[in-house]
Parts: sequence; C-alpha cells; structure tokens
Amino acid sequence: MTQYRSHILGVGSYLPERCVTNDDLAKMVDTSDEWIRERTGIHQRHIAADGELTSDIATAAAQRAMDASGVTADQIDLIVLATTTPDQTFPASAATVQANLGVSRGAAFDVQAVCSGFLFALANADSLLKQGLFERALVIGAETFSRLLDWEDRTTCVLFGDGGGAIVLERREVEDGDDPLQGVISHHIRTDGSKRDLLYVDGGPSSTQTVGHVRMSGQKVFKNAIVNISNAVSSLVEECGIDINDVDWFVPHQANQRILNGVATKLGIDETRVISTVSLHGNTSAASIPLAFSVGVQDGRIKKDDLILMEAMGGGFSWGASLFRL
Ligand code: UT7
Repeated sequence: MTQYRSHILGVGSYLPERCVTNDDLAKMVDTSDEWIRERTGIHQRHIAADGELTSDIATAAAQRAMDASGVTADQIDLIVLATTTPDQTFPASAATVQANLGVSRGAAFDVQAVCSGFLFALANADSLLKQGLFERALVIGAETFSRLLDWEDRTTCVLFGDGGGAIVLERREVEDGDDPLQGVISHHIRTDGSKRDLLYVDGGPSSTQTVGHVRMSGQKVFKNAIVNISNAVSSLVEECGIDINDVDWFVPHQANQRILNGVATKLGIDETRVISTVSLHGNTSAASIPLAFSVGVQDGRIKKDDLILMEAMGGGFSWGASLFRL
C-alpha cells in the first residue's frame, strides 16, 4: 500500500481592520493598560466589524495561504476549519468557506476544540491525507471570539480578539529511505472533560438556546496550561526521538505572555526561539497559532526546512502539540 506524508506548502492570515487598545477597553470596564500588559502581555487586539463573519475571516486567510502556496481552488479537496464561533449552529462554517473559495469537490467540516482547535484540525487533516483519502487540504483556525464576550466582565473581555490563519497541506508519497523527520511529523492531542467547568460558555443550542458568554477560572486555567502544555511537548519530542534543542521555532497558542514564558522556562527553551504575537493579537483562540506562524514566516524568522513545534491548551480542557519540518 502506498504510504503518504503531509507537507505544509504555505501559510496565510487575516486580521479585521478595527484595532482596540487597552486604553480603549479602560473606557468600557474597570481596567487599565498597565494591568493588562503586566498580567497578560496584551497591548491590543483586532475586533471584527459588524456583519463580518467567521467564514469571511477564514476565507480571507485561506485565500492568502493558497496564494502563498501557488495552489488554486480546483486543487483543494479538504477543508478543516477550527472554530468556536461558527456563523451558524449548522451548516459547518467550513461549508461556507468551501463555497466562498469556489472549491467544488471533497469534504469540508468544522472542528471544535476551542484554543487547541487548530492542532486538533491539523491532526485530523494530516491523518486523512496520510490515509490517502484526500490530496490537498486547507487547515484553518478562525474566530469572531469577541461575540462570546461579556463586555462587562473585565476578567475575560480584555483577553480575547478576532482573526484567522490557514495553511495548505499536501500529501506526498513516502519513498524508501526517506528521512522520517520531514513534513508533518507527529501530534499529541488530549482532552480532560472533568475540567470542563473551569473554562466554558454559559449557553448553547441544546441547553439555553442562546450563544452565551465566556466564563473562566483564570488562575486554575493558567496553572493547568503550563503543566499540560509542557507535558505534551515533552511527550511529543520524546516519541519523535528528538532533543528539544533541535526545534528551531516554537509557535504557541497566544493566551498570555506569562504562560509562554512559564512553558519556555519549564522546558529550558530559549525565549528567542518562541514566536510571540500576544501583544498584537490578544488571545484569538483557534486562530492564534496559524496567525503567529504566519507572522514568523512573513517576517523571515521561520525558514524552509526549519523544525517547528506548535502547542496549545484551552477549554475542555483540551491541549496538544504538533511537530513538523517546513
Ligand atoms: O486560551 C486558553 C485559556 N485561557 C488562558 O490560558 C488564560 C489563563 N489565565 C490567565 O491568563 C490569567 O489567570 C488572567 C490573565 C486571566 C488573570 O491574571 P491573574 O494574575 O491570574 O489575576 P487574578 O485572576 O488572580 O486577579 C488578580 C486581581 C483581582 O483583584 P483582587 O481580587 O486581587 O483585588 C482581579 O479582580 O486582578 C483583578 N482583575 C483585574 N484588574 C484590572 C481581574 N481582571 C482585571 C482587569 N483589570 N481586566
């Protein structure tokens, strides 16, 4: 049987035009630029315009990823969209993105794992390509997370933002003697449903028939994040037989600069090898990893053949890590 491996061809991203600073938020809730910067590292975030949908953001990011990859709509046969903020309860927003892009074959579906969603989507798409079921996939993380925020709750509304990022994945046949540390190498994805009440939305179609607002026990999430992410990264590098110092770039979920620093310290990672965009984007949930990856590629830090490790933790709790060579 033919064996396949997935390779990343390119990345693209999109941010809504409207940028909201910490000082802007201090006019709405009892907070300050100083508190937000010190506790989170966030300086600003982008917020979707009225009528701007998750599928619009996802489509724009996906089109840019396709352009960067030299791939056209007729070459895509799989779209996996990670989002917590779909346009509608159904159909999947991935179906809307498929229609927007003019992709007319294959399958398109959403994945819901909140802030870890991009890693869950990547693991799904990679598995489907490896099985030979599809040829070329768009893996997208896109959110209008601002629509889940309680703008009177200063403990959550200052943390999040909107945006999207996408990559194009292509399957290639594995030849005898190929280096196994090429393309998408492996994933570690986990869920612990017993901690679901520490970070959740207090609404939904089945329970309240409303969308609901984000509720979070911030400190507990913070502590779990550092432990779970560090464990996922350690397990993944061990399984892959690499040394953590072999990784060229860490592209983490961007929840809080203190979490990024805490994980880096725990694992002995030099902070200069961590891509951080939390100051500019805030926490964009499933979009934050591909957004940060896109920034690192566009500014020239991340280069072809670099070994990249992505990691995240979010509601569920869900968490994970992915390793690939660009
Ligand atoms: O994306 C995945 C999931 N999310 C995360 O990973 C987020 C994880 N958690 C965190 O990043 C942090 O816990 C927060 C940034 C949410 C909070 O930081 P903290 O250092 O854990 O602060 P805290 O919750 O212990 O609150 C400290 C104080 C409290 O006041 P008192 O009780 O000490 O008087 C809060 O009421 O800060 C107060 N506070 C604020 N003050 C000004 C909470 N939010 C704000 C605010 N502005 N926005």
